[in-house]
Amino acid sequence: MKLFVPIGTAVAWHSTYQDVELGSESAKCQPDPDRDSITSGEFPKGFKWSFATAAYQIEGAYDKDGKGQNIWDKFSNENNPCHVEDCQNGNDACKSYMNMDRDVGNMAKLGIENYRFSFSWARLCPKGKCGVTGEHSAAGIKHYHDFLDKLQAANIEPFVTLYHWDLPQALQDEYGGWANETVVDDFGDYARFVFQEYGDKVKNWITLNESEVVCDLGYGAGFFAPGLTGWGPQFHCRHHTVLAHVKAYHIYDSEFRARQGGRIGITMNTNWYEPNSDLQADKDASQRWMDDQLGFWADPIYRTGDYPPSVLARIPDWALPRMTDEQKKLNLGTADFFGLNHYTTSLVKDCDNNGNNCGSSWTGLGCSEWPQAGSGWLFSVPWGFRRILSYIDQTYDSNKYPIFVTENGISSRGNGTDLNPELDDAWRIHHYTNYIGQMKRAIEEDKVNVQVYTAWSLMDNFEWTTGYHERFGLMWTNFTSDERHTYFKDSARFFGRTAMTNCLSVEGDTSTCPKAFLNLE
Ligand code: GAL
Repeated sequence: MKLFVPIGTAVAWHSTYQDVELGSESAKCQPDPDRDSITSGEFPKGFKWSFATAAYQIEGAYDKDGKGQNIWDKFSNENNPCHVEDCQNGNDACKSYMNMDRDVGNMAKLGIENYRFSFSWARLCPKGKCGVTGEHSAAGIKHYHDFLDKLQAANIEPFVTLYHWDLPQALQDEYGGWANETVVDDFGDYARFVFQEYGDKVKNWITLNESEVVCDLGYGAGFFAPGLTGWGPQFHCRHHTVLAHVKAYHIYDSEFRARQGGRIGITMNTNWYEPNSDLQADKDASQRWMDDQLGFWADPIYRTGDYPPSVLARIPDWALPRMTDEQKKLNLGTADFFGLNHYTTSLVKDCDNNGNNCGSSWTGLGCSEWPQAGSGWLFSVPWGFRRILSYIDQTYDSNKYPIFVTENGISSRGNGTDLNPELDDAWRIHHYTNYIGQMKRAIEEDKVNVQVYTAWSLMDNFEWTTGYHERFGLMWTNFTSDERHTYFKDSARFFGRTAMTNCLSVEGDTSTCPKAFLNLE
């Protein structure tokens, strides 16, 4: 979700690429003690705390042991022009492929008992074909077995994402990747293969990560791999991600669930879209945004089987194929949990600011008062987290589909160097404290069933088109050392203590939570 934009400009990314202007004069920009306050205290027993990463962002070893090329390998190595800031690429990244013990050891020291990471499809099936006649890489298969065994030995539960944006290039070349419906069957074969191979060790499966970003930025705006543009590729891609998820769910449900007893769901990304005013037109505009970024996937899977009416009204059928009645039936209820990646909030007003319905056009706003992260699109707005959790509960029923927060976090840019890393990131602790505190309010006051909270990310890594310039890690990664040494930031200590005690300490409070002792040497 990451357009590279200079910090401080009035531009940020969202799904339909309209600029977000800062400087809303909405009353919602002002502090509000009732809305903003949080308290220390324990989380429900059994609540899970986790770190997240993704294969392309950390593994490196892009051509080792028979791995096939994927669309990010190709995209980030093209240099005429370069797609990534300073022409960086993920060829080596954090070198996690050869540093499994480092990563597992860091989590164990912090007392983290859950880890969300992704499999590299082209590492397992170099040409993307995982069916019986496809080519499978023995070394790739062994790698993830070894890694899962190390996690188990460290008592860390895996949450595995099947697809975090790294489509085998062969499938892009053969038929256009996600824009072509053949991908649905190939994804199904890949899913079946990994369930068969790893299902005894993995009980939490996430089919797709942020399909909206995959399709809107990769196939619509062309900023991300594979760099295609237009409504046709974009909405065909969106459609096929829904069908691919549904296919993988049914494969798990009918062929593996009884024997393996795991859970499977999808992870979607969304901002909270807050109406800029109480005008009905602004509320309607916010709803259209929610439909476009979240409802597109969540309505078919969790609510109706079909796309939201506002999407169907806006997107013609040459771009977005319509679901058949049979597909609607197959779509509905295809998840055991609701995976949410959430980072930021936007204010939304109707486009002519006059209360009229402007159809497909509306404007997103931000408040100048909101602290901006190292990423141009990311503003820290903790109260928006409580509202999106509560919206999901009311719209999709979190008792039926428990919410797993599969990513939340904040970036720095230019804060420290490898020679002088910024490890005292009190501002990041502040961000996490307030987001976690608002999640606690959603659980306690709004009765939202949130069961997992995942920090993005375990360590600084390849941040897509901004390369290594934006650091989301709770650990500092030294990208200039051959070994990719990692160091604990203060935020890692904070997060480790929160996880270990299952208790949030609001800054300055030393008495509410039990003491936690981390041994980070
Ligand atoms: C998410 C994505 C991650 C990471 C993060 C921070 O959208 O799933 O891969 O890049 O944002 O930008």
